[in-house]
Amino acid sequence: MPTPPATELFDTGLDRLEAEGLYRRRRIVGPHAGLGPAELVVDGRRCLAFCSNDYLGLARDPRIARAMAVAAGEWGAGSGAAHLVTGHTTEHHALEEELAEFTGFPRTLLFSTGYMANLGLVCALAGRGDLVVEDRLNHASLIDASRLSGATVRRFAHADPAAAARRLAADARRKFIVTDGVFSMDGDAAPLEALAGVAAEAGAGLLVDDAHGLGVVGRHGRGSLAAAGLAPTSVAGLVGTLGKAFGTFGAFVAGSEALIETLIQRARTYIYTTAPPPPVAAATRVALAIAREEEWRREHLAMLVTRFRTGAGALGLRLASSTTPIQPVIAGDAHAALAAAEALLDAGLWVTPIRPPTVPAGSARLRITFSVAHQPADIDRLLAALASIPALRGEFPA
Ligand SMILES: Cc1ncc(COP(=O)(O)O)c(C=O)c1O
Repeated sequence: MPTPPATELFDTGLDRLEAEGLYRRRRIVGPHAGLGPAELVVDGRRCLAFCSNDYLGLARDPRIARAMAVAAGEWGAGSGAAHLVTGHTTEHHALEEELAEFTGFPRTLLFSTGYMANLGLVCALAGRGDLVVEDRLNHASLIDASRLSGATVRRFAHADPAAAARRLAADARRKFIVTDGVFSMDGDAAPLEALAGVAAEAGAGLLVDDAHGLGVVGRHGRGSLAAAGLAPTSVAGLVGTLGKAFGTFGAFVAGSEALIETLIQRARTYIYTTAPPPPVAAATRVALAIAREEEWRREHLAMLVTRFRTGAGALGLRLASSTTPIQPVIAGDAHAALAAAEALLDAGLWVTPIRPPTVPAGSARLRITFSVAHQPADIDRLLAALASIPALRGEFPA
């Protein structure tokens, strides 16, 4: 029997996605040699990028790249197996200890990605009979994690602690509040202090994914908990990623001794996968030291954000209430976001259009991000290009 054509096996829906402006396409990035620190060659065109999560400008830092190369000479390219087999080297272990010291938690546990850390954490703690309440704008990996856990899931209105408290008022064996620390597509901060209060009141555990806060906000870049004045004991677990502000790759969960031992026994995305390459761990150790010591990077970022928001406000662009390097400009319609991104690319500026289902329908946007690699003149160039796109201005919705 011949294999049936794909169109009979599943609904591809590709034509519909194209018609609705929701089709996703990858762009191909070339090598960086000879380019400025924030420049990329995209589909053969040289441009200034405003869409990476490399907030501290560490992804191309020669000290970190050198550490990776030296460690590759010592360790080879791969870890060979999962952490519970041959994969957990002295580099991984030292990084876990340094991350614990940095975040102030008793222990941390490395995961291969942030997506896997969220799945591993939520699914190890919550299950059938439990209740997970989560912010409706949480990252997709948290949404998937809660679904996969088998717990009852209730979403609450964005950044609304009173709504979270209402959702918690149901019978359940165990209860959890799950939230981004800094929201990935909006850049605003979760009301962590209030959520910690709601969690304590309801006897719920608070789980925070600080993928976009660590390294960026709080003193020494200690993240959203530090920025909110919360002690590590206020939360049941914290997720951090290493592929954003720290410029390398991977993720970790920080928590108590009991939490980390529980994850080692139960987190399937930890147990059943290959450990990150040792050179990645070695490079991340250097990145972490730079991120915490070089306070000027956060000062530079704050200056860029202020310059952008002042200029964008004067232009009447539709901004979000964010003080972080994530500065979305709302287009509303998916086609409008796509067209705006194309216009920017024609001007040599790369910004990704973010459309549903990543963001709610009607709130498609340009997700503009800043990096220490940018200079004030780069912001001015971006503002000048944004000024020429009328669809980004005016009252919302357009
Ligand atoms: C809030 C948040 N959590 C988790 C992740 C996933 O992290 P990773 O890219 O390491 O899988 C991302 C983005 O990728 C994110 O924005």
